[in-house]
Amino acid sequence: MDSLEMNELFGRIYENKAVLITGHTGFKGSWLALWLSQIGAKVIGYALPPPTSPSHAELLGIECLSNIGDIRDSEKLKNVIHRHKPEIIFHLAAQPLVRASYKNPVETFSTNIMGTINLLEACKDAPGLKAVVIVTSDKCYENKEWLRAYRENDPLGGYDPYSASKGCVEIITSSYRHSFFPVDKYGSHHSILLASARAGNAIGGGDWAQDRLIPDIVRAASRSETILIRSPKAIRPWQHVLELLSGYLMLGQKLLEAKPQFAQAWNFGPRQEDNLDVKSIVQRLQRHWKTINYQLSAKDDLHEANLLKLDSSKANSNLNWTPVWTIDEAIEMTGEWYRSFYEHNEIISEQQLKRYIQAAKQKNLQWAETNEIFANQA
Ligand SMILES: NC(=O)c1ccc[n+]([C@@H]2O[C@H](COP(=O)([O-])OP(=O)(O)OC[C@H]3O[C@@H](n4cnc5c(N)ncnc54)[C@H](O)[C@@H]3O)[C@@H](O)[C@H]2O)c1
Repeated sequence: MDSLEMNELFGRIYENKAVLITGHTGFKGSWLALWLSQIGAKVIGYALPPPTSPSHAELLGIECLSNIGDIRDSEKLKNVIHRHKPEIIFHLAAQPLVRASYKNPVETFSTNIMGTINLLEACKDAPGLKAVVIVTSDKCYENKEWLRAYRENDPLGGYDPYSASKGCVEIITSSYRHSFFPVDKYGSHHSILLASARAGNAIGGGDWAQDRLIPDIVRAASRSETILIRSPKAIRPWQHVLELLSGYLMLGQKLLEAKPQFAQAWNFGPRQEDNLDVKSIVQRLQRHWKTINYQLSAKDDLHEANLLKLDSSKANSNLNWTPVWTIDEAIEMTGEWYRSFYEHNEIISEQQLKRYIQAAKQKNLQWAETNEIFANQA
């Protein structure tokens, strides 16, 4: 696929647009920066230095206007937004880990909550800004260990500090939307559409975070060590990182197209059959990387939800968003990415992004359509 065709994705909406990603030095942010740069956006980043070494962002070396700063530094953040004048902001910067949040609750709450408030304050008088997508999590819901998947209008909550911080961020986002960017006064009193996105457990190459399943496994495999798997029976909504990014980008497209009905909260989770337990994920990953050795742990020291599923029917029907890869394909891509990295010193993110887009085209997904007339339909 040549770059011209790439630019045509998402109805060409991102071509030549200034797009700010907070958290561009992290796992999801670096994949988003790659995708946006490939489709012709001018990518601006704001984040702390890469949280891990190796770092996907550093390995990719994407050309972007990278600003290193703390999201809690309101003046610096505001200056960056005013200087670069993004038309859309994807807010991903956060302390994203449950176990780290038990160790550092104050940092987790201040980064995730005050960071989001600083961003939304800076948005109020940001020149040329049209759209903001706040990234929270499947963990923002009050977990009732329900068999059924959580919907957007289920109660928010959070047991551990990370989950609670993401529940708070949802409430704050809703408050700012009602108080400062109300949908019914869009176009007359303000010109910003604000939405939030709740996705599941992202897997894919380039993640080296601590205490996350896939990074822990690949770290151990790369050293030929045996890994102890915590909570093997815990069920999570696993999905390839590109799946949720396609959701964020579709949502951003609708907001940039000035469609106020999309300024709300959205779930972007996997198909119901892809909600698997931890043990099944490890077993499937091992099929693609034989060096993986693991032992299952009987219990866990810290509380984490056992059963967590996301219902994405709203995104399926209203946004026409749907996952592209099955969980087996997502795991295969993930295994292949890490093996290429550890065994051949190759970074295959760009190739995998192209394969993902090709698969979406074959499924006739609207965002992957390169015929503009079709892509611009509601
Ligand atoms: N990875 C997942 O499975 C998952 C699932 C649900 C939601 N999320 C959310 O997606 C977003 C990105 O997660 P990720 O997995 O890429 O995490 P990550 O740790 O790889 O990246 C986090 C990013 O935030 C930045 N950051 C952290 N603290 C900061 C601060 N004080 N000031 C400025 N920048 C700061 C880091 O520098 C990095 O760029 C987060 O909001 C996270 O809560 C992730």
